[in-house]
Amino acid sequence: MIIAIDGPSGAGKSTVATAVARRLGFHCLDTGAMYRSIAWKAIQQGADLADEAAVGAIAQTFDIAFEHEEGDPRPSRVLIGGDDVTAAIRTAEIDRSVSVVSAHPSVRAALVEQQRRIAEGGDYVIEGRDIGTVVCPNAEVKVFLTATNEARARRRVAQNAERGVGSVDFEEVLADIIRRDELDSSRATAPLVQADDAVLVDSSDKTINEVIDAICAMADARA
Ligand code: DC
Repeated sequence: MIIAIDGPSGAGKSTVATAVARRLGFHCLDTGAMYRSIAWKAIQQGADLADEAAVGAIAQTFDIAFEHEEGDPRPSRVLIGGDDVTAAIRTAEIDRSVSVVSAHPSVRAALVEQQRRIAEGGDYVIEGRDIGTVVCPNAEVKVFLTATNEARARRRVAQNAERGVGSVDFEEVLADIIRRDELDSSRATAPLVQADDAVLVDSSDKTINEVIDAICAMADARA
């Protein structure tokens, strides 16, 4: 079974996807980490992020590995060609750069192919922006998880503080979230849109457990 969780940044996708996977015994795939990793590698190689051919070439030969602790669906480490980039892909610099990289059609084509290959390997909760629309249009459960801009910025600040990386300045994070939503929603290839058959879940006034329960109930109904 595939559970697709799409939505804007800061809606709680990562927390919810991990908890749902843990409860159902599924694997978890964070596709945002893959786009972030391409941005990291492009910056590290000194590539011009706007140069689609250069960044697309990186995506073609991209070697990403997710390391897991026994029984935990959330990877403890993200490795690119052997480099541990777990923290490096969560910096404010990557937050600012990743939308440019993820707008390139050739980058998306390469990553979508990898994501589909991974998803064929078992039961997955997959989080991203285009999972229900492009990557897994036949997913058994599709959720579009959203929340108000302010709720999302508050959560992202708390998450950055907990991880010890990224900005903890509310106004800066809010501005970045709004700017990134605009870029993600207006790009020509696979923009952030709710799939016709996705269930809209607004997490602004819900506890994380209420959201998790709702998604697990949808999975139960499809089992
Ligand atoms: O979920 P996140 O914030 O880690 O995602 C990082 C960026 O990658 C975000 O700007 C949107 C992009 N992204 C995408 O275009 N498609 C996906 N399936 C996942 C993420």
